[in-house]
Amino acid sequence: MRFDWHNPVKVLFGEGRIADLAAEIPPGVRILVLSGGGSIRTNGVYDQVAAALAGRDWSEFSGIGANPEYAVLMRAVERVRREGFGFLLAVGGGSVLDGTKFVAAAAPFAGEPWDICAVGAPVAAAVPLGAVLTLPATGSEMNGASVVSHAALGEKRHFISPLVLPRFAVLDPATTRSLPARQVGNGIVDAWVHVCEQYLVHRDGTTVQDRQAEALLLALRDLAPRVVADRGDAGALAGMMWAATNALNGLIGVGVAQDWATHMIGHELTALTGMDHARTLAVVLPALLRHRATVKGPRLLQYAERIWDLRDGSPAERIEAAIARTEALFRSVGVPTRLSDHGIGPDIADRIAGRLAGRGGMGEDGGIDAAAVRAILRAAA
Ligand code: NZQ
Ligand code: ZN
Repeated sequence: MRFDWHNPVKVLFGEGRIADLAAEIPPGVRILVLSGGGSIRTNGVYDQVAAALAGRDWSEFSGIGANPEYAVLMRAVERVRREGFGFLLAVGGGSVLDGTKFVAAAAPFAGEPWDICAVGAPVAAAVPLGAVLTLPATGSEMNGASVVSHAALGEKRHFISPLVLPRFAVLDPATTRSLPARQVGNGIVDAWVHVCEQYLVHRDGTTVQDRQAEALLLALRDLAPRVVADRGDAGALAGMMWAATNALNGLIGVGVAQDWATHMIGHELTALTGMDHARTLAVVLPALLRHRATVKGPRLLQYAERIWDLRDGSPAERIEAAIARTEALFRSVGVPTRLSDHGIGPDIADRIAGRLAGRGGMGEDGGIDAAAVRAILRAAA
């Protein structure tokens, strides 16, 4: 096993920490605050940010919707270029954070910025950014990834660059009290699947990473019913926020093969149907695990025993029971596990298999080809 581990994101965790953010932004710089569709105006987060930035030179750009849209983000890019903002502050969920990362990379980019996502055009510079997270789910607050949608092209693509790692991330669990049930459920599923795509992967010599991943899964399993039932449970909200951040800040994945096929297939589902990100994952992951039960067999047996306490029955029975428990968890937080639950017919399988055919095999061993994508999505019908 060989790896580099360097995560420079400074985390300011805890209730009231928004008040501390101005000290993290260089003095004298023009600040652009980017946000979504308005949740921060009704839950008090905007007022806290405005108070923290009192006396600073700042302006705002709102309206970054879920699955942040290229055309909207390019309007922010124009403003950054025209008005010379030197620091971007994202305030919201993963979509606002991802959108801000794209703006940060696109503003100094010489060519067509969509190429950053579409063909992996290298990011040579980015406007520095910080984040105030209001939705525990994506881990975007502590990683260098961004996922952007391009409606005119029918695409949803990602890019990764250390230059768009937030300089700091404010994680105040109290900001999540206002989350609707749908977003709470989505966040639990997204974080769960992030862990699974780094943990349910054939590998050896990763005892530490295994136990860290299992700690997150057990925490999410135990916290899920608490946050679903009561957004006044401060301890549960705090645990959820920290778990989701740790699920995708790189630590549990150091030195291990990873399998992001569920996410890649999920992004295609969102591009074609508009489904919420986490809802695509809840449909794809169980079907993918069943399809790959042989390759992932030892890992699935470990998952069955350590996460779901399943020790009886044949290996095949234990694996199936663990996948069924996973589906039950997703449904228990209000997230369906079948395409038909979303009114989507089985013909989507051929369309997505065709779209992914040119991108090479996915999965930890490259074994998920177009035929496998088709079979997985048909099984998820
Ligand atoms: O837009 P506003 O009004 O802010 O409302 C949002 C939005 O409607 C609302 N919301 C957020 N915080 C709230 C709140 N409502 C009430 N109270 C609060 N405290 O929630 C809705 C969904 O927000 P969104 O940001 O879209 O959700 P999420 O955080 O799940 O982000 C999803 C996006 O992140 C990408 C996904 O593909 C998707 O585009 N991902 C990013 C990743 C990364 N950067 O590492 C990894 C993930 O796998 C994922 O792909
Ligand atoms: Zn995700």
